[in-house]
Amino acid sequence: MQAKEIRQKYLEFFKSKGHAIIPSASVVPENDPTVLFTTAGMHPLVPYLMGEVHPQGKRLVDSQKCIRTGDIDDVGDNRHLTFFEMLGNWSLGDYFKKEAIEWSFEFLTDEKWLGLDPKRIYVTVFAGDENSPIDNESIETWKEQYKKVGIEAGVCGENEKAQSDSRIFLLGAKDNWWGPAGETGPCGPCSEMFYDVRPEEGELIGKTHEEWVDEFRIMEIWNDVFMEFNKVAPGKFEKMEQQNVDTGMGLERTITVLTGKENVFDTDLFLPIIAKIEELSGKKYLFTKGDLGYDEMPECWSEDMRSMRIIADHIKASVFIIADGIEPSNTERGYVLRRLIRRAIRQGHMLGIKNNFTIEIAKVVQEMYGEVFSEVLSEKVLIELQKEEEKFRKTLERGLREMDAIFDRDPNLYPNSIRIVTGHHAFDLYQNFGFPIEMFFEELDKTGIEYSKNEIEKDFNEELKKHQDLSRTASAGMFKGGLSDNKEETTQLHTVAHLMLAGLRKVLGNHVHQKGSNINGERLRFDFSHPQKMTDDEKKAVEEYVNEAINAKVPVEMNEMSLDEARAQGAEGAFENKYGEVVKVYKINGYSNEICGGPHVANTGDIKGVFKIKKEESSSSGVRRIKAVIE
Ligand code: ALA
Repeated sequence: MQAKEIRQKYLEFFKSKGHAIIPSASVVPENDPTVLFTTAGMHPLVPYLMGEVHPQGKRLVDSQKCIRTGDIDDVGDNRHLTFFEMLGNWSLGDYFKKEAIEWSFEFLTDEKWLGLDPKRIYVTVFAGDENSPIDNESIETWKEQYKKVGIEAGVCGENEKAQSDSRIFLLGAKDNWWGPAGETGPCGPCSEMFYDVRPEEGELIGKTHEEWVDEFRIMEIWNDVFMEFNKVAPGKFEKMEQQNVDTGMGLERTITVLTGKENVFDTDLFLPIIAKIEELSGKKYLFTKGDLGYDEMPECWSEDMRSMRIIADHIKASVFIIADGIEPSNTERGYVLRRLIRRAIRQGHMLGIKNNFTIEIAKVVQEMYGEVFSEVLSEKVLIELQKEEEKFRKTLERGLREMDAIFDRDPNLYPNSIRIVTGHHAFDLYQNFGFPIEMFFEELDKTGIEYSKNEIEKDFNEELKKHQDLSRTASAGMFKGGLSDNKEETTQLHTVAHLMLAGLRKVLGNHVHQKGSNINGERLRFDFSHPQKMTDDEKKAVEEYVNEAINAKVPVEMNEMSLDEARAQGAEGAFENKYGEVVKVYKINGYSNEICGGPHVANTGDIKGVFKIKKEESSSSGVRRIKAVIE
């Protein structure tokens, strides 16, 4: 079977169950600046999950293009991708758990559809917690499905080891609660389906569900989410009037298990790309199942193979991102795109590909997907890739020339050449040419100079940090500038400003961002984007949000991370920061998550008094100004 047949069958199956087929939305979310990319099929459908009427009815099915960069460092293993297709069926206030599970089982196991072996299917169900009880209805429905094919399905408790009859595993909210997509919105318990990819290794007993997943023995292929709650505030869930079903089946993983493979790259969704990379690099993609040596490689991948997988994934993702209108840049979506392309180019370099190659790969992607997603055929795709590759290659060449100049290769001919290398050298190259430290090491290896990788990395990171602290102080105008002194009261009001921004975003919407601030020991002045005057109710709601956080005595946590990570975690803040920069993120769990230089109180309980908005007025076009105090 080929991936396109699965896609087709999925749409057909749900059409036969009364679902309307809808096209994939863009990977760039419309009207939602808070998220960079569409990460799940439900994303473009949130308004309908919240009750708006969908023109196509209450049952929908589609294949949605998704971009998830949170796992970017895992790409290269057997199943992580930054671009994937999510097949999904939706009930918008129509059917619920019973039908969703029945149809999932039918589609997976019926010979007419996927015909997977039911003995190899394992499922998970929500175990219950303080917000919501154990999902007994799903457990019972799953038992009935298994019974239909003669299997007595046993239930394995949370953290327990599987017994011989274990089919249904109970897991907590970390694994089996989905959503909301933002801080508030529709969410609920979910039930995931896994497939045993190596049944020849014997019964699945004696280990926890998590252990089986970690060993790549079972692979998740589908998730049924039962959206019965609306998260209205941190820790607050309200039962929704409309009960929805949101499901997501990973096309890449499903074709993997259906064709008896263990990794997504061994499928027709990747093999043509890999073949192109083999041709360009002159290297072979080794250790595929059945290859000599495969069994001796428990991790199933070599460095070259990993490089090829990263290139295949990243260029595919880049093609789709460009096709939906994004160009490489240093901010937000463009930055993610730039990073994907440059990471792929670096891997190409490691494989020994000398010339520009990204458009060669992109052409293969266009051929593979053009029929289903015609936007990838846009000529912008090749133009943007070519431009970015040329730009990055110039950067690399300058760095390489500089390295040659510093580290003359033959000490006999050049007695003055540098033979002692420090992190300082690596940092200079990074700082002046954007030359990646990994390449620094590769080049160094060619010179025969002895060095300590650990020492160099340590020095490099120290320099990087020092530099960032300096630039932070220098550019602190924006944030420190907000603070006119270092008094304790000022710090309290600074933390209040974070809570207030989060409250404003919650009450008014995610279009609200900080535009400026000025804080002293007496009051805080705060400018933010919003088109109209706030109502009294809105002001009250923001005050309540802040005061609730103060009363809840929540610790204020600070973590340093790359800007990318901060973004991935949904932190609000100064996205004009530079490529590669490490930022501080202040998190007040459940209330606020913001990039900032500090300082802040250690706990919201240290804020002494009650927060009050004194004035709300226009500051400039599209910008409002609040004056607020702690009384
Ligand atoms: N929204 C669910 C997921 O992404 C289906 O797993």
